[in-house]
Amino acid sequence: MNYPSRVKIVDVGPRDGLQNEKQPVPTEVKLGLIHRLQDAGLKEIEVTSFVSPKWVPQMADNAQVMHGIQRKAGVRYSVLTPNMKGFEAAVAAPREEWPDEIVVFGAASEAFSQKNINCSIAESIERFAPVVEAAREKGIYVRGAMSCTVGCPYEGEIAPSRVDMLAGLMKGIGVQHVGVADTIGVGTPIKVQRALEATLKHFGIDDVSGHYHDTYGQAIANTLASLEMGVWQYDTSSAGLGGCPYAKGATGNVATEDVVYLLQGMGIETGIDLDKLIDAGAYISEALGRKPASRAATAILNKRAG
Ligand code: HMG
Ligand code: MG
Repeated sequence: MNYPSRVKIVDVGPRDGLQNEKQPVPTEVKLGLIHRLQDAGLKEIEVTSFVSPKWVPQMADNAQVMHGIQRKAGVRYSVLTPNMKGFEAAVAAPREEWPDEIVVFGAASEAFSQKNINCSIAESIERFAPVVEAAREKGIYVRGAMSCTVGCPYEGEIAPSRVDMLAGLMKGIGVQHVGVADTIGVGTPIKVQRALEATLKHFGIDDVSGHYHDTYGQAIANTLASLEMGVWQYDTSSAGLGGCPYAKGATGNVATEDVVYLLQGMGIETGIDLDKLIDAGAYISEALGRKPASRAATAILNKRAG
């Protein structure tokens, strides 16, 4: 099998991981996680989102997070921006606090689009178009997240043709890279490969990433199936935290620790120090008063404890 020799991991823990937490997580704790992740060798971190605080109160401190990051050279910081209001807020700060990358997020399911961003898929594309244009004018890279590419909490199974359509629309407005998301973690390898194939009709292999939630314990298998297709970029979440507030019952992304353990074992380069990564996951888990959801982290922490 011709696996990629190198993989880029985007830790989305500070955003996807924390957005669903009911209790407010102090900004200092979010920064503590971000700083530990960059020290562990993460080269891209999704740090917050500029969404409505009425919809996602946990992300209301977005500007404070951006202000508080002690940036490390070579690390990229991305944020979610669903509309012009969010984009304008993200670039209202001095330039050194701007994100390197913004994420517009749409869905392959109409019902999820309505629940998550309160508009249809077609309306979402209309809203994203000026955001993409404004970001690219400012030299900010644009990623598109595509939710519910295999299943939807409201519509059930999603056909690859829906993903094909959404990827085409994203490409049409100038999105530079897309993430194929299994929002509720129902996907299994062949279905995920079909969603990736539909996406690859519109984007090259270097412009596609996998974003797999682990609700049904399939995310590592789905990652391996994606590696087999040559996909080399993945969103993962420290300690397996998270879930989307508009996808009830869905658990977090695949744990960064589990993916790094997998890749290390396969001899695939990530640039990440697994021990430091485990410390980052242990830090945020302790701050939230729970154990890491990562199997690899649990095993290594048990081994450390002797
Ligand atoms: P809306 O209510 O239709 O928006 O929400 P609106 O334009 O009618 O504005 C309503 C109010 O929100 C107004 O305030 C606006 O100013 C304000 P009011 O006059 O009532 O005081 N507002 C904003 N405030 C701050 N920042 C903004 C913003 N926009 C409007 N950007 C909207 C539409 C998109 C804003 C809303 O639905 C929303 O914020 N949704 C976000 C939901 C979300 O964050 N979901 C989780 C992230 S996506 C995800 O997790 C999936 C992903 O991980 C991939 C996967 O796994 O599938 C990416
Ligand atoms: Mg997600």
